[in-house]
Amino acid sequence: MAAGATPQAGDEYDATAFLPSRGGLAAYRRAAASCRGCPLFEHASGTVFGAGTSAARIMFVGEQPGDQEDRAGEPFVGPAGRLLRAALGEAGIAEEQAYFTNAVKHFKFEVAERGKRRIHKPPSLREMRACRPWLSAELRLVHPEVVVALGATAGKALLGPSFRVTKDRGALLPLPPEEQRLTTTRRGQEPGLLVATVHPSAILRSDEREAAYAGLVADLRVAAGALD
Ligand code: URA
Repeated sequence: MAAGATPQAGDEYDATAFLPSRGGLAAYRRAAASCRGCPLFEHASGTVFGAGTSAARIMFVGEQPGDQEDRAGEPFVGPAGRLLRAALGEAGIAEEQAYFTNAVKHFKFEVAERGKRRIHKPPSLREMRACRPWLSAELRLVHPEVVVALGATAGKALLGPSFRVTKDRGALLPLPPEEQRLTTTRRGQEPGLLVATVHPSAILRSDEREAAYAGLVADLRVAAGALD
């Protein structure tokens, strides 16, 4: 799809035409602000690109921005983000070492019948695929040593549709070959690794919040161990 065109039903959704041909994170962030690679841009306030520097050693990938992230234009600034940052502290991961982003960079929502509350809707596979070039660019530009997939959408975006959080969480996994190619360049080190865990929003919704939170911290400690 040509840059500038609005995707129509039946079109292949794809952000590729909106990516700059060169530049660093700042250039990509600027270009992402005009992405129309799928229809999600129409109702969101704006693109929420990743936050952090290209020197980050660990990348956290969530699903998509939430209501507060959409308003602020920054990932993980709402309740789920606060919980994640607290868990990072407990796992010994310094925020300055971290880059935060999402598999999908626009907020997808429906408006509650009564009132104006915007209720999160999970992105479709098509929307995830359309947005994937931005995540690949972030992986290439940051080339983190460890990628943490937060929840099923991030896990599927990075490891494919057979990913299951319950089965795959808490272990150091090799990134798939394509991502290894994108992440091997830092000081000639080993290819990047991946740790999957639950999404912090799932902990906020859990009836057993303490145990769920402890599980998140334990998984993050596995990721922290790979940075030592
Ligand atoms: N949930 C996400 O997956 N990402 C955010 O940025 C906020 C909430």
